Amino acid sequence: MREASYGDDSRDGDATVMKLEALAAERTGKEAGAFMPSGTMTNLVAVLAHAQHGGEVLLESGAHILNSELGGIAGLVGAFHKGINGNRGAMDIDELREKIRPMTRNNLGTTLVCMETTHNRAGGAVLPLAHMKAVYDLAHEHEVPAHTDGARLFNAAVALGVEAKEIAQYTDSVGFCVSKGLSAPVGSVLCGSKTFIERARTFRRMVGGNMRQAGPLAAAGIVALETMVNRLKDDHAMARRLAVGLHKIDARLCDPHEVETNLVRVDVSFTSRSAAQWSAALAQKGIAASPADPRSLRFVTHRHVGDGEIDEAIATFTNVWKGE
Ligand SMILES: Cc1ncc(COP(=O)(O)O)c(C=O)c1O
Repeated sequence: MREASYGDDSRDGDATVMKLEALAAERTGKEAGAFMPSGTMTNLVAVLAHAQHGGEVLLESGAHILNSELGGIAGLVGAFHKGINGNRGAMDIDELREKIRPMTRNNLGTTLVCMETTHNRAGGAVLPLAHMKAVYDLAHEHEVPAHTDGARLFNAAVALGVEAKEIAQYTDSVGFCVSKGLSAPVGSVLCGSKTFIERARTFRRMVGGNMRQAGPLAAAGIVALETMVNRLKDDHAMARRLAVGLHKIDARLCDPHEVETNLVRVDVSFTSRSAAQWSAALAQKGIAASPADPRSLRFVTHRHVGDGEIDEAIATFTNVWKGE
């Protein structure tokens, strides 16, 4: 970061930002990339660039875009949306087939289909490649583009044992975060065709996403892509270790077989505390776990969490469980 360039990314470009964007494009097998401040903005700009003229966006009901991005899809893009029922983040293909439709006098047509992998609300579940292909093929049959929220794309790639580009081949655009598990302090990259990314750049400017001297941030993003991807398997192993420990306390808390990546969803609905109360009780004892909804907690593993921290988290959870 100290050695990064200080060009103006919103004028004639910054060398370090361009290097990150080229690397991101190469890793996702796309022609171009655009650096953005956050995953939320990356999704917003992608939806603007694909569906600016309104229409319907179809996405899985638990999608982050629908549930955690404060309605930007409606309020800022002006698009309508329909949630499709899903299983572990994967849309029901028959329902998608029923809902995807052209614009007619009487129908608001589909302008975009979105996927999410790994899927946050589904506890870090990875979309199977065959599912992504089926969604992508269906969308294209209807001449509708596909966007993938890949905030944790590299977790999905590591879990599947494939390159990120093998996942991204089944989507027209994909965004991923260099923050989160990849450990950079800030930033996401949207990748797609050259034409799409040029269009996205205008929307990025519109929503205030031009970052000017963003070289030092991009430098951390380059380190993230070059050195942090292979170690994600350690986060996945730690998440499984946590899930196994919690499962031993009570099998209803979580199923270790459902833990595919670095997120662990813990069902506390059958206990005497709400998820918010659990979160507060754990926080008092030094363990950070957010309430994902009123019924469940979300634990996240990362570079600073090893065997010792996991065992401590399990011990602390046990103490709270026993009311100590
Ligand atoms: C699946 C998914 N997409 C997008 C985002 C948004 O990323 P950011 O917090 O960088 O806006 C998140 C954040 O947790 C996420 O889990």
